[in-house]
Amino acid sequence: MMEGAPDLNSFKETLKTIRSSDLPHDEKILRLKELADRAISFSTGKEKSIRVQLLMLANQCISDIEKLRQANPQRSEANNSASSEKKGASNVELKKNKQNDSPTFSQEAENYVRNLHPLISSTSFDNIAGLAEVKKIVITQIIKARENVELARMFGISGRNILLFGPPGTGKTSIAQAISNKVQYPLLTITPSDILDNRFGEFEKNIKYLFHGAVLNSPIIVFFDEFESLATRRTSSNSSYMKRAVPEMLRQMTDMRKQSESKVMIIAATNNPWDVDDAMLNPERFDTKIYVPPPDVFARTELFRTFLGGLKVADDINYEELGSLSDGFTGADIKYICKRAAEEVFAEVVDKNEIRAINQDDIRRSIEKSSTSVNSDLLAKYAKFMEKFNI
Ligand SMILES: Nc1ncnc2c1ncn2[C@@H]1O[C@H](COP(=O)(O)OP(=O)(O)O)[C@@H](O)[C@H]1O
Ligand SMILES: [Mg+2]
Repeated sequence: MMEGAPDLNSFKETLKTIRSSDLPHDEKILRLKELADRAISFSTGKEKSIRVQLLMLANQCISDIEKLRQANPQRSEANNSASSEKKGASNVELKKNKQNDSPTFSQEAENYVRNLHPLISSTSFDNIAGLAEVKKIVITQIIKARENVELARMFGISGRNILLFGPPGTGKTSIAQAISNKVQYPLLTITPSDILDNRFGEFEKNIKYLFHGAVLNSPIIVFFDEFESLATRRTSSNSSYMKRAVPEMLRQMTDMRKQSESKVMIIAATNNPWDVDDAMLNPERFDTKIYVPPPDVFARTELFRTFLGGLKVADDINYEELGSLSDGFTGADIKYICKRAAEEVFAEVVDKNEIRAINQDDIRRSIEKSSTSVNSDLLAKYAKFMEKFNI
């Protein structure tokens, strides 16, 4: 199938030729796209070192295209809307220009993201207890900034990338979901295992697919959960693929930010922000870093109301008391406390064949049996992190 396909040098020559040509702007973009796609499809089945070089070359083409688009945004936009109304227009163009049937890089990237099933979340801000301060920042900096692009620009607010950090189970994932629900952008949740791949070059390729595919599937929110395992601080003991993948992520994020009109939002969440690579914490990547603290007594009271709501509970339940008895527990802990109490009462009811409601003592006992997720040492670590980054 690859018979007569050009070798690496001829790809490089072609790139050079396109770069130095005085072809019209749109034509140049088209040629670069074609070359990138050919380099990608040609790279399959090649020996590793050639494969990586081909992928790098494709990436160069893509960044050239982005530069050209920035230099001349009106024209490329006009070109896009003229060639097709729908997004994904570029794929159609590319298909026409291809000599073989293997999918183009853009098509692969678009499908890659689609197969990870981005979905608009049904969780809303109303489902999140407490966190008034966090909600306020998210709503003004992110949501209002997106609704008032010009105004936000005047005040230097980008409304783009957010890093959420704080103890496990405090609602970081829920916030990402609520943002998706509010702006009605599908949420693409990426956990490290979705894209980690220790075969040579595969991890980087997945990252490229992910970012490129996100643009093609925009509007979209890319949500990196457990971010510390993905953008791990580079140390001498890191695996070599991590050492290459982090720079690739950095590069992609920088490129993404340059596309000022992009409808791709990036949210990352981590329990251990101190393990995240320093370059990633730079304001150029994440200008909004938000601490998601454990719930205060009022939020805990509300959480008990939420998680016992709809269950068969006795009249003696005193939510305020439960709130004050549960210092140091997170939302996830409280959910578990309620679940365990309910399970125990259910077991008893089934066993004795005698129905009764969940009462205050059941919950108290469940609290006593649980250990807190948050302690002062952990909170001090977050405080230190915030001091270091001026948050
Ligand atoms: N403030 C909160 N309000 C409502 N539910 C919460 C809150 N904090 C945690 N939870 C619940 O606890 C569980 C874990 O929350 P999650 O958002 O995944 O936490 P994190 O991402 O910070 O680890 C979820 O089921 C969520 O419903
Ligand atoms: Mg989570």
